[in-house]
Amino acid sequence: MAESAEIIMDGKSFKFPVIVGTENEKAIDISKLRDETGYITYDPGYKNTGATKSEITFLDGENGILHYRGYPIEQLASTSSFLEVAYLLIYGNLPNSAELDSFTVRINKRSLVHEDMKIILDGFPSYAHPMGVLSSLVCSMTAFYPESLDSNPSDEDMDLHIIRLLAKMPTMVAWSYRKSKGMPFNYPKNSLDYCSNFLQMMFAHPTESYNVDPVVSDALNKLLILHADHEQNCSTSTVRIVGSSQASLYGSVSAGINALWGPLHGGANQEVIEMLDEIKTSGMTVESFIEKVKKKEVRLMGFGHRVYKNFDPRAKIIKVACDQILNKLGVNDPVLDIAKALEEAALKDTYFVDRKLYPNVDFYSGIIYRALGIPVNMFTVMFALGRLPGWIAQWKELRANKEPIGRPRQIYTGSTKRDFTVIAKR
Ligand code: ACO
Repeated sequence: MAESAEIIMDGKSFKFPVIVGTENEKAIDISKLRDETGYITYDPGYKNTGATKSEITFLDGENGILHYRGYPIEQLASTSSFLEVAYLLIYGNLPNSAELDSFTVRINKRSLVHEDMKIILDGFPSYAHPMGVLSSLVCSMTAFYPESLDSNPSDEDMDLHIIRLLAKMPTMVAWSYRKSKGMPFNYPKNSLDYCSNFLQMMFAHPTESYNVDPVVSDALNKLLILHADHEQNCSTSTVRIVGSSQASLYGSVSAGINALWGPLHGGANQEVIEMLDEIKTSGMTVESFIEKVKKKEVRLMGFGHRVYKNFDPRAKIIKVACDQILNKLGVNDPVLDIAKALEEAALKDTYFVDRKLYPNVDFYSGIIYRALGIPVNMFTVMFALGRLPGWIAQWKELRANKEPIGRPRQIYTGSTKRDFTVIAKR
């Protein structure tokens, strides 16, 4: 393997070191490139750019591998609780039972939100998209906890902000939903686990008793784990870049929520169900929809990924889980058959094969969310709830490593040397 890379420019040779990660990924360290050569790199969409070194998540897109802190996602999704995985991502190790107990107690103690948050919620029209509401509520935590604006918090303070956000996020998510329904808010119940508590805040009716269905809470637990981190994707890079200016945790995560919202990223789970429903109601055949995709009239939402060029291991787990959960709940959603037929047709078609397009995490997750009773416009909010520990872990790592402010360069292609005096005389 090369130990350095040589670049020859303007007749001069420059050497740059090669760095290798613990899973053997290789990079050319060009941090001195501009100083030494006067050139920068040009890489739209950062397809070849490593913005950081990270110990949190390993992803091998060619071989469909995803590890959190060295543990395969398949094992975590089948045996762990979401809070264990959150602890793993944020603190680096799976908790022992005493650590998990204390983590859980600390979170439970802070699950209430300030009552004034209801006033903020009241300011939104009931038809507001819950992603916009959630990002505003998370950002509003900077107002309720102004000490979070301290650009140089102690480790203890930083940890308190982290616990607060993990604790209050389910409450804020559930209340955004209740607001959209015109329903009274349900308060957290500390006797329940993280997922069951969230479900009762979402669905308990004030006049009736509500028992959490363990099939539903287990399914939610699995989905949240599968979404918990995914290295330097669009929203995580947003959280890191905002955090690099020493913005608060709440401000940085709020920005990440907005980045996640877009249809090419986390917003795809909502788009997938809308696409499947549209195919169903229009009576269009799967074959004719695939033809429209190939003519580039529409995208096959939930397909393709910037990094996975073989398969997305999360999608594999979710597809199996989808069948199991719908069976257990006795739900028959006709769009599941459409999704399977689309996947089958696409995987045989050279358009998708040549471009290495496979189902991603969003292709089947919406079908499960719908079976759990989550409305379509809440799907991306559920993604945000799952991704929160990852955003927190990445923000914490950036701050611990004292990474420099993120500030890409550009190649200017606008007008040059225009004469201001000509316009000034008019
Ligand atoms: N349907 C049809 N064609 C596609 C799709 C798709 N879903 N995805 C990519 N392509 C095609 C592009 O048109 C392009 O074709 P071309 O070479 O003929 O121009 C080629 O495949 C490469 O596509 P890019 O957009 O350049 O790939 P990129 O890595 O930039 O994009 C992305 C990845 C954004 C995920 C893309 O695959 C996409 O838009 N997918 C649909 C949206 C989606 O499911 N997003 C969720 C991703 S997972 C997540 O963020 C949680």
